[in-house]
Parts: sequence; C-alpha cells; structure tokens
Amino acid sequence: MNIFTIVGSIRKESYNMQLAKTMQERYKDNLNIEIADIRSLPFFDQDEEHNPPQVVKDFKKAVANADGVIIITPEYNWSVPGVLKNAIDWTSRVKRVFLGKPVMPLGVSTGMLGTVRAQLHLREILSAPGIQAKVLPPGGNEVLVNFAAQKFDEETGLLVDETTISFLDDKVDKFIEMIKTSK
Ligand code: FNR
Repeated sequence: MNIFTIVGSIRKESYNMQLAKTMQERYKDNLNIEIADIRSLPFFDQDEEHNPPQVVKDFKKAVANADGVIIITPEYNWSVPGVLKNAIDWTSRVKRVFLGKPVMPLGVSTGMLGTVRAQLHLREILSAPGIQAKVLPPGGNEVLVNFAAQKFDEETGLLVDETTISFLDDKVDKFIEMIKTSK
C-alpha cells in the first residue's frame, strides 16, 4: 500500500517528524510510506488555484495517488499549525484530492494532552465540503502521543515507548483494514 504522510511541523528535530520516520521504518513490510515536504509549498493563493506552482501540483498528485494519507500534527495554540492548514487548503480546491481518501490522524506534543485539541480541529477540517476525507473514526482510534521528550530516543530519534508502540500497531492495523474496505 502506498501511504503519503504529511507532517505539520517543519522543525529540524520535530517529534512529529520522528514519529513519521518511526512509522516508515516499522511498517515497511506492509506500507510504502512517503513523507511530504510541506516546507516547499507556497502560501495558498486563490489566484493561482487553477494553475498552481509545480510543487503544489506534485503535492496534490501524491495525495490523489495514495491509497491512504497519514497526517501527523503538532498542536500550536490549541489548533493545527498554519503550515499544515496551508497544505490542506491547496488540496481542497479545483481538483479535490482528499474526497473519500482514507486518512489516519495522529499527533505528538511535549505536554500532557498530546494534541487532543489540534486533532479535534483537524477532524473538523477534514470533513469540510472541499475535503471530505474518510477519516479513521474517533472513539478509541486517536493516537495522542504526550510527553514526547520521554518517549523518543535522543540518539536515534525513534519512538521507543513500548505502550505507545503497541497502541500504534493496533491503530495502523485498523487503518490498513479501513483502506482495504474502502476500495
Ligand atoms: C506549542 N506547543 C503546544 N503544545 C500543546 O500541547 N498545546 C499547544 O497549544 C501548544 N502550542 C504551541 C504553540 C507554538 C507556537 C509552539 C512552537 C509550540 C508545544 C509543542 O507541543 C511542542 O513544541 C512540540 O514539540 C511541537 O512539535 P514538533 O515540532 O516537535 O513536531
């Protein structure tokens, strides 16, 4: 399965990016995970939506061609970071590439609440008319990684917290099932 992954932090040492890399390595037998470069996307500009820059075209094509999309978001001031919202806005016009697309939201924060507010906002955004993704249902499937500094290995950068890893394994299985039944 081809999975396109969008990470809402462009920080070099981003924990959210570290989670993406952990997943890329851990699930490589079942999932071919490509990680998006959202830093290269310009600000959304409605004047350019019919003929956007090539990076935007490539980004939209990657979403359109993927069997599923993983979105891993930090929480900035109780919501998703602007860079992530910007990337999603590009996908929501002219050709709406998220329509019916299986999406798994996750997030990592350094605090106690593990991006719960950002993920609630993300779920709302993903159900907007221009997007209408098929999101892994809430009610036990939310992957909220809190206290990040204690859960990632400082040297390798990988997620090492066993409880979180086994929870994640279970939710990834659910996501794979959802993709299979969406086809
Ligand atoms: C944060 N952080 C944060 N954490 C949280 O749990 N709720 C929040 O509302 C915020 N708000 C916030 C705003 C801004 C501008 C920054 C820079 C940070 C802390 C955040 O969880 C922490 O910096 C993470 O490490 C960010 O994710 P990455 O960059 O490590 O992936």
